Amino acid sequence: MTQPNIQVMIDEAQLAKRIRELGARITADFKGEEVVLVGILKGAFVFLADLVRSINLQTEIEFIGVASYEGTKSTGHVRLTRDLGCEIRGRHVILVEDIVDTGKTLDYLLDMLKLRDPKSLRICSLLSKPEAYDMRHKIDYLGFEIPNDFVIGYGLDWDGKYRNLPYIGKVIG
Ligand code: IMP
Ligand code: MG
Repeated sequence: MTQPNIQVMIDEAQLAKRIRELGARITADFKGEEVVLVGILKGAFVFLADLVRSINLQTEIEFIGVASYEGTKSTGHVRLTRDLGCEIRGRHVILVEDIVDTGKTLDYLLDMLKLRDPKSLRICSLLSKPEAYDMRHKIDYLGFEIPNDFVIGYGLDWDGKYRNLPYIGKVIG
């Protein structure tokens, strides 16, 4: 793979500030309650690691794995690659996503998790692409709305690479 040209879209300071704000809102909304934060693998692992440290509640961290992308194109078929390791019946659950694009990943996971009778089920996503997403589901906690560009870094990959960039970058060729 040739090295792409990457333009910084959201830098480390902007990410840190916004994530502190999201953490404070979640803390206020669930005051005195326990929440299960479910990171959607693999992309959400970096965001979840920072988000959880800005939440001042009793939390349990879980992961669920799905795959739909090959390279920079969604195949449109979501499949489960790893299920949750705990019961969520009667518990407050927040699904933590890196980016909502078509919303197919969320559709799939929300349908699946609702059947398990959580006490509440909310969505927290670092990014959304509003042009592609038809807003069937409201994102309860959203970091940033971005244009319909392919972005990498801070957990987001390009064919498995670049998840380790500390910022959100746009590939410009
Ligand atoms: P959706 O199912 O179309 O909403 O896509 C959601 C998933 O696609 C995200 O969890 C990401 O893993 C991946 N994805 C969507 N857009 C991008 C992008 O711009 N860069 C990297 N991954 C993306
Ligand atoms: Mg993802």
